[in-house]
Amino acid sequence: MFRIPQETVDQIIQQADIVEVVGDFVTLKKKGQNMWAPCPFHHEKSPSFSVSPAKGIYKCFGCGKAGNSIQFIMDIEGLGYVDALKYLARKYAIAIEEEVTPELTQAQSEKESQYILSNFAKDYFHDMLLNHEQGKSIGLPYFKDRGLSMPTIQKFELGYSLEAWDGLTSKALAQGFKLEFLESTGLTIVKEDKKYDRFRARVMFPIHNISGRVVGFGGRTLKSNDKTPKYVNSPESEIYHKSDVLYGLYQAKQGIRSQDLCYLVEGYLDVLSLSQGGIENVVASSGTSLTEGQIKLIGRYTKNITVLYDGDAAGIKASLRGIDLILEGGLNVNVVLFPDKEDPDSYIRKVGDTAFKQYINTNAKDFISFKTELLSQEAEHNPVKKAEAIREIISSIAKIPDSIKRAVFLQRCSVIFGIEEQVLLTEYNKLMKQERQKPAAPEMPVNAPNPELTPQPEDKVAADDAILLHHEREVLRLLLNYSAHKLPEGEPFLPYLLTQLEDIEFKIPIYARLVALFQEVAKQAPLVSPDYFINYPDGEIRQEAVSLLTDKFELSENWETHQIFVPRETDMLQFAADTAVLRLKWRNVQQMIKENSELLKTEKDFTEIMKIMTLIKTLQQYEVEIGAQLGVVVVR
Ligand code: CTP
Ligand code: MN
Repeated sequence: MFRIPQETVDQIIQQADIVEVVGDFVTLKKKGQNMWAPCPFHHEKSPSFSVSPAKGIYKCFGCGKAGNSIQFIMDIEGLGYVDALKYLARKYAIAIEEEVTPELTQAQSEKESQYILSNFAKDYFHDMLLNHEQGKSIGLPYFKDRGLSMPTIQKFELGYSLEAWDGLTSKALAQGFKLEFLESTGLTIVKEDKKYDRFRARVMFPIHNISGRVVGFGGRTLKSNDKTPKYVNSPESEIYHKSDVLYGLYQAKQGIRSQDLCYLVEGYLDVLSLSQGGIENVVASSGTSLTEGQIKLIGRYTKNITVLYDGDAAGIKASLRGIDLILEGGLNVNVVLFPDKEDPDSYIRKVGDTAFKQYINTNAKDFISFKTELLSQEAEHNPVKKAEAIREIISSIAKIPDSIKRAVFLQRCSVIFGIEEQVLLTEYNKLMKQERQKPAAPEMPVNAPNPELTPQPEDKVAADDAILLHHEREVLRLLLNYSAHKLPEGEPFLPYLLTQLEDIEFKIPIYARLVALFQEVAKQAPLVSPDYFINYPDGEIRQEAVSLLTDKFELSENWETHQIFVPRETDMLQFAADTAVLRLKWRNVQQMIKENSELLKTEKDFTEIMKIMTLIKTLQQYEVEIGAQLGVVVVR
């Protein structure tokens, strides 16, 4: 068994900075003493994953995963302890007494062997490109012809595979790599007694995972109009799951993070040309259609994707598919189409870096404008087509998981088409109803509160009231977090929200107390600092205030900075308040309907029965009304 000396382990632990190690996988944002991110180990939208630089540990308050740098690498890369140490040693250039001998390779896990072999192959192809006669006379000139510079070739570790049957295979075998792994990574094709290189006479694009390890290759033929396929790609393997890999992400991730935006293109060459032109936040789905896994991957670094596709029919179709998938993933999406016959690579080479950047800036459209323009060309004088177009757009909006965002887009759609929002909502509700009636679709109420967001109620509160607790809590959260804010027109937020709460009775005692307190202090001053509550004499109030202020849910900051089409946070605030109050009212109305229906069961007096029934009917109407405003389908 292979062992790493204790002093090396200590050195690794000392040098492996938790923020750096974790930062390779998620975008951490500083909040207080800790850094926060959406948890990479379970699906969530609001960050409950925290890193403490001081303590050198991470912890997710959602799924409970916790540990130090080594544990993190073990968890996220699916590695054993020793392999995780090696990973960190590589990252921090700490030498481990280790030789890649055949015995060792044998002893290691299948995955680790595949990684080592892929890395070897990458180095080999790169070496062939730079130093072999064939590489120098065929490979390099090809890249040069495509406008790629040496730094780009180095950065992406491009290579060349010889025009030979077993260039790589025989070299790797001679180095002690086992045929088993050559075959399982797809580098070597084994047929009966013959074995030969998969990649021959091609320029090579190594594909990295997000931690920079090579997991597969794409190889492009140098011949045009040849019978061989244009690209040959590595097959799926233990280390290469195509649906979870994006070409260029390793090189792009810092740029994506700092720009808070990811450009999505289709091909290897598109990534290389753009990156070389100074647009480094670019990745490719590499020919396959975009997957949910790939969107999640981007989502670790930014919530904003701009799709750069060809302007031909295929490109448009791919964009439309991509848009819905990205929206479903909870990310924001813009689209840029290129003139017919052009792709990002050809276009940037044609017009140059500056004009290219200008083009994408002026031509980026949010998905509603994109779809509208696409569909409205034919729809303009044709009401049937127009209705179709609207339905088409609403179906995209329906894919957005965040209900506030969804409502904002419906508003926007209403402005663009000059149709009352109510009409769109009706259409939207119809669509959702259809969705729900599809037998396979999971039961998913449009505005279901996310249970992750709320600490679950103690025994005091019946399980039935968990949702009520959530809605009440959301109102309190807004009160507390924005008690010192003003709305866009300058009106203080606190009185604005409190007025709406006047006829609402809070059921959770501590919340009722807090609301009463707010009403009291608001009489004296319309703007109140949350500090007032954090330092309040009563311990229970203090504790609740801190808990509400540290609730993970936040209004998205990205909206303000990057999206031309979404409103400012202060606009959102008013909307969030209105929505929260409506939800609470909705819930209360439902509660009252339930209570009165119970009464009805035992009531004997006819006039009383009639009274209750009238009341229930009114409440039901009210429920439907509020529900419609919220975009909820009320099925009775
Ligand atoms: N692709 C593939 N197999 C093919 C064709 C394409 O895997 N037979 C993938 C590659 O990842 C390629 C991407 O789809 O990068 C986009 O295809 P295309 O636009 O045809 O290739 P480019 O990379 O743009 O190559 P070139 O500019 O040289 O035509
Ligand atoms: Mn191309």
